[in-house]
Amino acid sequence: MKLIFSSLFVLLVSAANALVLDAPPASGWKAKETVTEGWQSSAADPPSFTLMLYTGTAGETFFLGNHQTADDTATFTLPGVSPGSYHLGAVNTTNLNQVWAVTGQFNITAA
Ligand SMILES: *[C@@H]1O[C@H](CO)[C@@H](O)[C@H](O)[C@H]1NC(C)=O
Ligand SMILES: *[C@@H]1O[C@H](CO)[C@@H](O)[C@H](O)[C@H]1NC(C)=O
Repeated sequence: MKLIFSSLFVLLVSAANALVLDAPPASGWKAKETVTEGWQSSAADPPSFTLMLYTGTAGETFFLGNHQTADDTATFTLPGVSPGSYHLGAVNTTNLNQVWAVTGQFNITAA
């Protein structure tokens, strides 16, 4: 079941873009800490996107701001989320269901 869910999630990522989110550090992130996330893009990508934080399990989402694609990096403070497994998504600013890029799972530890 878990495998089916992750496959579906991958399929939802639009193939018609070059936006790639960098993986957070292998050591993970800490809740409420200020982090920097980078990405790679091409001129054909949308000019801006919304960065979302998704939980691995309960389907909870957290808004990490709108970002200019050309910036290639963003620094922001993580919300006080519960420790656990998360991934990031870059989505359409006006249609959060349109996912352009996702990272693999990474851990967020307690603040
Ligand atoms: C983002 O979503 C809106 C609303 O669905 C749509 O009109 C727009 O074309 C989408 N943007 C891109 C770059 O696909
Ligand atoms: C993430 O946390 C889980 C549960 O504590 C642990 O088993 C796993 O090794 C951790 N992953 C990484 C990349 O640290």
